[in-house]
Amino acid sequence: MSAISDRYDRAAARYQKWWAPVLEETAVRVLDRLAGKLPLDEPQRIVDIGTGTGTLVLEALRRWPQSSLTGTDASSGMIVGARERARTELAQADQERLSLVVAEADRLPFADASFDAAVSSFVFQLVPDRAAAFREVRRVLRPGGLLVFVTWMLSDIRFAADEAFFDVVDELRIPDQDGPEEDRTGDLVSPRSAADQLRRVGYRDVSAAQEWLEYRFDRVAYVDFLEEYGESDLFRSLEPRMRRRLRQRATERLESLPATDFDWRVPVVMAVARRG
Ligand SMILES: C[S@@+](CC[C@H](N)C(=O)[O-])C[C@H]1O[C@@H](n2cnc3c(N)ncnc32)[C@H](O)[C@@H]1O
Repeated sequence: MSAISDRYDRAAARYQKWWAPVLEETAVRVLDRLAGKLPLDEPQRIVDIGTGTGTLVLEALRRWPQSSLTGTDASSGMIVGARERARTELAQADQERLSLVVAEADRLPFADASFDAAVSSFVFQLVPDRAAAFREVRRVLRPGGLLVFVTWMLSDIRFAADEAFFDVVDELRIPDQDGPEEDRTGDLVSPRSAADQLRRVGYRDVSAAQEWLEYRFDRVAYVDFLEEYGESDLFRSLEPRMRRRLRQRATERLESLPATDFDWRVPVVMAVARRG
């Protein structure tokens, strides 16, 4: 098991509550792009790479009512989360059109040309070898099949709510964490670099553009978000007394900020390509 899938296994339940909603509106734009190119009223075979708790597969089942959907993820915990959502949110007939499989993006357990389309949201920044993953997705697409994905674009945009939180961390002299920083090295440098990489491994009709993910965090719930998801390692590392103090001081500070300081706006790259 890789460090990444281990991390997502541990976070699966909290992911669905705290992080999937942040990504959702931007993630489903992938399906908007695909819908313009893949007829909705014909049976299609669609695979979602790194499905997480199933945001894209669940929505795609609704949009392509005759199609079969396959969600893959390297983390078995995330696949369990997706299965649970499918069980509670989908009618039986729709559940039968869905399969969920634990698999790394660069080792997909499917025959060549198994799918008409592949989709993915916020995953290709995490794979250890992106070119290998693009090649593997190409292998499982039929000739002419489509890949549409969105992921982060590298940026150093600041977020006022986080800056206020870390000011409080500094004021309380909470030491730097020993744990690894979130690795952002896989974020795409530019739409052009993504397009070039896709062309190099044999995709054609490639387009890639910068778009924005915009999300307003709930000011009242933001400390809960940080404690339970965003900065859970930091909170967990503290003695109960310091943890309570951090919560209290951070709550006071965050409540003093205007609601607009909780508007998160970050660039993403949306890419569309066809198997040559
Ligand atoms: C940020 S989440 C995105 C999940 C989902 N696509 C969404 O939009 O909510 C990243 C997902 O990629 C999965 N992942 C990470 N590395 C992977 C890999 N090499 N192959 C397949 N999935 C991977 C993680 O387990 C996690 O579920």
